[in-house]
Amino acid sequence: MNELDPQRLPVHLAVIMDGNGRWAQQRMLKRIIGHQRGAETVKMVVEQASLLGIKYLTLFAFSAENWSRPALEVRALMTLLKKYIRQETARMMRKNIRYNVIGDRSELPDDVNETLDEAIHKTAANTGMVLTLALSYGGRQELCRAAARLAQDAVSGKLSPADITTDLFESYLDTGGLPDPDFLIRTSGEMRISNFLLWQLAYTELYFTDTNWPDFTINELHKALADFQSRERRFGMTGDQITQRGTLLNA
Ligand code: FPP
Repeated sequence: MNELDPQRLPVHLAVIMDGNGRWAQQRMLKRIIGHQRGAETVKMVVEQASLLGIKYLTLFAFSAENWSRPALEVRALMTLLKKYIRQETARMMRKNIRYNVIGDRSELPDDVNETLDEAIHKTAANTGMVLTLALSYGGRQELCRAAARLAQDAVSGKLSPADITTDLFESYLDTGGLPDPDFLIRTSGEMRISNFLLWQLAYTELYFTDTNWPDFTINELHKALADFQSRERRFGMTGDQITQRGTLLNA
């Protein structure tokens, strides 16, 4: 297993868990079996991320566009999600993990929302990792919701257009209060962002692997994190400036 420097782990890890369907189809299984196996990988990654001391883990569990999948698959995914949250809440309590949700929750079935509310409420005082599930989530839709709320506050006189800074805008996003992801992993060989965290990924390091999500292992997670640790993040500055800043911070 790759040696990881605990001081240089991503504070916020985001994951696009892709390839459940292909994993199942390659084995002549129903797609939902792929999602069920994917839920086992979710358990492993949540456990590992929390063990490693990662502060924020955000998982793309259901996109705004996923509603157009066959009704049977959508229903099965919602049932799986509900079952997962119910089953895992006790473990979240033991591991001091707090649940959070981003996305358009008004689109989710009532029973899923009730389960989520219960889990969010129960884990609200936990001080360890924040596990954010992106559900019925789309980056463009989130930006539109933020813009609409900003416009509403401008119309009602709470703010003026001149007050709109990147910090203020950020506070109107679903992720308000969360730091931007440092590292994004996408499985299954697709090299795109697919409408995930469009604003927040501005300076995120991206990592793509061919492995389908159900086959993603602890070893692969460590390999990805080791790759993150080999990168120089410049945030638009020069390499020399970054070295100088590191020297000053460590002095
Ligand atoms: C992408 O695979 C995955 C999804 C659309 C759903 C992700 C859901 C899980 C990993 C399981 C449940 C989640 C939780 C949090 C318990 P795909 O179906 O698009 O795969 P394909 O591209 O191969 O068809």
